Amino acid sequence: MTALNGKVMVTGGAGYIGSHAVLALLDAGYQVVVIDNLVTGFDWAVDGRAAFVRIAVEDPGVRDVIRQHDVKAIMHFAGSVVVPESVSDPLKYYRNNTAATRTLIESAVAEGVPHFIFSSTAATYGTPERVPISENDPKVPINPYGMSKLMTEFMLRDVSAAHPMNHCCLRYFNVAGADPEGRSGQSTIGATHLIKIAVEAATGKRDSVGVFGTDFETRDGTGVRDYVHVSDLAEAHVAALKLLIDQPGESHVLNCGYGRGFSVLEVLDAVDRVTNRTIERKLQGRRPGDPGELVADNSAILKTIDWTPKRDDLEGIVRDALTWERKLAERQG
Ligand SMILES: NC(=O)c1ccc[n+]([C@@H]2O[C@H](COP(=O)([O-])OP(=O)(O)OC[C@H]3O[C@@H](n4cnc5c(N)ncnc54)[C@H](O)[C@@H]3O)[C@@H](O)[C@H]2O)c1
Repeated sequence: MTALNGKVMVTGGAGYIGSHAVLALLDAGYQVVVIDNLVTGFDWAVDGRAAFVRIAVEDPGVRDVIRQHDVKAIMHFAGSVVVPESVSDPLKYYRNNTAATRTLIESAVAEGVPHFIFSSTAATYGTPERVPISENDPKVPINPYGMSKLMTEFMLRDVSAAHPMNHCCLRYFNVAGADPEGRSGQSTIGATHLIKIAVEAATGKRDSVGVFGTDFETRDGTGVRDYVHVSDLAEAHVAALKLLIDQPGESHVLNCGYGRGFSVLEVLDAVDRVTNRTIERKLQGRRPGDPGELVADNSAILKTIDWTPKRDDLEGIVRDALTWERKLAERQG
């Protein structure tokens, strides 16, 4: 473990990806404090080895948390994540993603936190001119969600130039799956992620799965995405943290994906195989602003951080998501 003289503060650590990052950090020997206002997260999702403070990231009291817990790095997952909602309520996204993050960064700078890792997204690219997409390709978000995240990337760039804080923005592609040991998974109510919806259908929580768009220029006409296992993603955060600690003057923006895509129908076929049943598919028109194909060029992340993805296996991702969904069904009675 690359030593850190203090704790890692994980914002949004009661949510889907944040709770997995907490596990990865604890498993790697780091000490963790989670802050979360539980707007979509669950306190039971936070591993008992981590400290937990229920507070919003934009609350000035976060400075006290940083001091009390001797925070030396922040992993910032907290935010609003539903793309269509960002179109209908853009100011919510500029408030909870951009403005709230501005205040959090201000707290971090005021308390001298040296390292900051940020959950960015492939949505910063908008509709790509080519796939796989590399970090320097044009960033033209086509929804307020992507724009709210790109604005945060710009803030971090400028802050790292002005203050002794380095950062890493990880642009995630489609995050899926659950902790292989069954300690966490996606519990979000009303989630819109394909694999989550498909395993909900497989466990009887929904009747069917909508397939939005069957006329894209892809191998079977449905949208192609780069699905990355949430535990691999969590481990990428730990590797990124080590790099920030080892190279204090350097900041990075990195795609996080496997560099290969699966179509909606291929994903649903995989779910059918894993569950041994046939999920009903409702073929529908395209949703506005949905690109046909989003696949990461991941050569930069593989070169830059010490990260070897271990779970690049669609059926394995589905299996872990399904195991968690069944566990969740028991919890919800
Ligand atoms: N899920 C994906 O496929 C995906 C892809 C790209 C980027 N991301 C980014 O990853 C991050 C985590 O996403 P997720 O899927 O785990 O979502 P999530 O909703 O499960 O987790 C977000 C967490 O943040 C908390 N939160 C929200 N606003 C807060 C605030 N102002 N103060 C304190 N806590 C707050 C919520 O209670 C929740 O626990 C987000 O920033 C999201 O934009 C996710």
